[in-house]
Formats: sequence, structure tokens, C-alpha cells
Amino acid sequence: MDLGIKGKNILITGAAKGIGRGIALAAARNGANIAVHYLGSEEAAFQTAEEIKVLGVEAITVKGDIASFKDVQKMKEILDQDFGSIDGIVNNAGWAQMKPFFKYEPEEWRREVDVCFNGVLNLAYTFVPDMKKNNQGKLINIVGDSARTGDRNLIVSAAARSGAISFIKSLAKEVGRNNIQCNTVSLGLIDQGTFDFDEETMKKLVKQYPLQRLGSVDDVTGMVLFLLANASDWITGQVVSVNGGHSMLG
Ligand SMILES: NC(=O)c1ccc[n+]([C@@H]2O[C@H](COP(=O)([O-])OP(=O)(O)OC[C@H]3O[C@@H](n4cnc5c(N)ncnc54)[C@H](OP(=O)(O)O)[C@@H]3O)[C@@H](O)[C@H]2O)c1
Repeated sequence: MDLGIKGKNILITGAAKGIGRGIALAAARNGANIAVHYLGSEEAAFQTAEEIKVLGVEAITVKGDIASFKDVQKMKEILDQDFGSIDGIVNNAGWAQMKPFFKYEPEEWRREVDVCFNGVLNLAYTFVPDMKKNNQGKLINIVGDSARTGDRNLIVSAAARSGAISFIKSLAKEVGRNNIQCNTVSLGLIDQGTFDFDEETMKKLVKQYPLQRLGSVDDVTGMVLFLLANASDWITGQVVSVNGGHSMLG
């Protein structure tokens, strides 16, 4: 099936490793040129970009802290000069501290809000105007299910991402007239072989999933590709769960 993303320029944040890398490679396999964004994982980002180039599409690496408006503006300058205007963004970057609220020092929650909420605004404010000019664009923000269900150990990032869900919905209303689709993908636990849970805890976790397993990176890429594709041109302002049925929100 032709997704219609051949030759499109897609910026994927946090694409050096993990889910972001999986999305970047999957989009590249379908013909998209990829801006591989990273913050600290420079070597891994270069490696991902090299793997993408082997697939016969363009790849560029771009560094920046999405929490910093200045950094995001700089990213755009670099991309405009060396890559071209951005047709789609997958904001996969995120940062969360796992602890209950009263274990925080007040100055500790600001960074999470800056990355998980302000980061989305910084990207949208910087990149969506060109999409408006081009009368087409896709913006996908990735969150965890905790943003809608709450989670005592992800209390700040969940709240920040809940705000981001609302922002994406409102933005979808604002830029729908410009043929720009804005959606959120909400994830359950995605096992990348890095969880440090003992066997007992893992069993308990898996039991919470009707589909009786945690997710894989490949489980996520299908939905993100669909939301980047022409097939989803009439879908906007939605929150789509990719979560093995862990939470079922109407
Ligand atoms: N894995 C899961 O089970 C799960 C579940 C629910 C939701 N999610 C969400 O899905 C996304 C991908 O998850 P993941 O487990 O593959 O990776 P992750 O380790 O949670 O984060 C992805 C990337 O975000 C980048 N990042 C962090 N802070 C940043 C900042 N201020 N500016 C720019 N980039 C920043 C990091 O890039 P560098 O490495 O280059 O610094 C990191 O590699 C995340 O947003 C995560 O919260 C994951």
C-alpha cells in the first residue's frame, strides 16, 4: 500500500534510539526523508541516519533541546538550509521522573513540564507556519496512557502531557482549514528489552493487558505511519491508543 509519504520530509524527535528510531526507519522504508532529532545521543543519531540513507532516502541529524524555544528555532534554521521544509513532525521525545508528587522538590517538576508540554508548543509554533503556507502537514504527539488515566508515579509528566493532548486538539481546530492534521498517539508499556522488572512484577504487569503482552516498537510504528499517511487525511484532533487494551477510553 502506498502511504503517500514518499519524498515527504519528516522530523522525528528523539529518533536516535528506541521508539523514535523505529518510527524513523519505518517512515524511511516507505520513502520519507527523515530529520533524525536528538539531544544527548549523538552517536546513535548518526548511526540511525546512516541506516536510513542506505534505504535510498535523505537523512539529516539535528540536535536540540525541545524545551528551549531558541534551540527549536535553531533546529528549523538548520533544516531549512540543509534539508528543506518539514511536511510532518512526530514528537516522540519525552522526559519523565518516576516518583510520587511529595517526593519532588518544587524546582524538580519544571523540566518535565518544559519538555512534555512546552516542547510541543515550541515545535508547533516553529514548524506549523510553513505547513500552513504549504497547505498540508501532519503533527503527531506521542504520550503515555498515564496522560489520560493518571499515574501516581508519573504525576507531573502525565499532567504535562494531558495539557499537550488538549493543545493538540485546539491546534487541530485552528489549522484544519490549512489541511494540517494534528493527533496524539497514546502508548501503553513498550518493551524494548530494557525494563528492570523481576519476573513476578513482569507477570503482574502483563496481566493488566487484555492482549496478554506488553507492546513492541513495531506495534507503535504502524499507527504512526497511518497518521502520517494520506489514508488519515480526514482524522484530526484525536487521541489514538496503542496500548494492548490496557485502558479503554471512549
Ligand atoms: N517506552 C515506553 O514504554 C513508553 C510508554 C509510554 C510512553 N512512552 C513515550 O514514548 C516516547 C519514546 O519512548 P522511548 O522509551 O523510546 O524513549 P525515551 O527514552 O522515553 O525518550 C526518547 C528520547 O527523548 C529525547 N529527549 C528527552 N528530553 C529531551 C529534550 N528536552 N529535548 C529533546 N529531546 C529530548 C531523548 O533523546 P536523546 O537520547 O538524544 O537525549 C530520548 O532518547 C517518549 O516520549 C516516552 O515518554 C514510552
